[in-house]
Amino acid sequence: MNASSHKPPVTELLGPKGGAPIVGLTAYTAPVASLLDRHVDFMLVGDSVAMVIYGMDTTRTIDLDTMIRHGKAVARNASQAVVVVDMPFGTYEDDPEIALANARRVMVETGADAVKMEGGAELAATVARVVADGIPVMGHIGLMPQQVRATGQFKSKGHSETESRRILKDALAIARAGAFAIVVEGVVEPVAREITAACPVPTIGIGASVACDGQILVTEDMTGMFTQFRPKFVKRYADLGAELERAVAAYAEDVRARRFPGPEHTFKPRKKAADKATGAKEDARPYPKS
Ligand code: KIV
Repeated sequence: MNASSHKPPVTELLGPKGGAPIVGLTAYTAPVASLLDRHVDFMLVGDSVAMVIYGMDTTRTIDLDTMIRHGKAVARNASQAVVVVDMPFGTYEDDPEIALANARRVMVETGADAVKMEGGAELAATVARVVADGIPVMGHIGLMPQQVRATGQFKSKGHSETESRRILKDALAIARAGAFAIVVEGVVEPVAREITAACPVPTIGIGASVACDGQILVTEDMTGMFTQFRPKFVKRYADLGAELERAVAAYAEDVRARRFPGPEHTFKPRKKAADKATGAKEDARPYPKS
């Protein structure tokens, strides 16, 4: 079932501004989407997939077809949570009509509930155009990874008065353009608090303090699957990377010591009488359940 086939509108699913904190996590694959579905309010098919899954240096190199492929896998496996797909770098910033055509592709081909776009006041006309077409848009302001060319440039925002004013202006422009929620990334607490108070739609923080209306993290960051670097704002809830490595090392050791496969993992020839009755070959038997 596609994400949007039987769901209420995204605003209803996320709840009203000032309600219970909104819970978001990223999902790029079907199994992760299935695991997350009952626990989060929304899943983001983030362009962070570029770095986390494809090992690229930035999020700028992922293309629309790849985002659509991941969006499809996630949307098919999310029956409750809102599914939001990131519009990748170069597919929406320059022209509202191109943005609309690409956002339509994402919605139609993935079955997602919404798209997300990074950008401040300069992107307001584009957000308004896409929303006017009936496509829900989530904004993304503050630290915008698509503008970062190297990992060393991920720096928190809002330290100066000028920068704080600009981020607040960006938030209000994107909200007025019709975004249903806005990701606020890497923004110092007082500014995140001010934006959240001033913004008529929910703010979703990532590295933007508890003042926001909701939170999102990259699933692979908070589960210890992505360890190349760890931003200050990530809390580790598991160490799955270490657990995976432990399992892989144990398997390698077993194979080298001929401890795996054991008798319980090995097919035995069928009894002769049964062979005669069915005329079936050994290989035609269904795999036994483990
Ligand atoms: O791509 C992504 O994962 C994101 C989050 C950091 C919000 O945009």
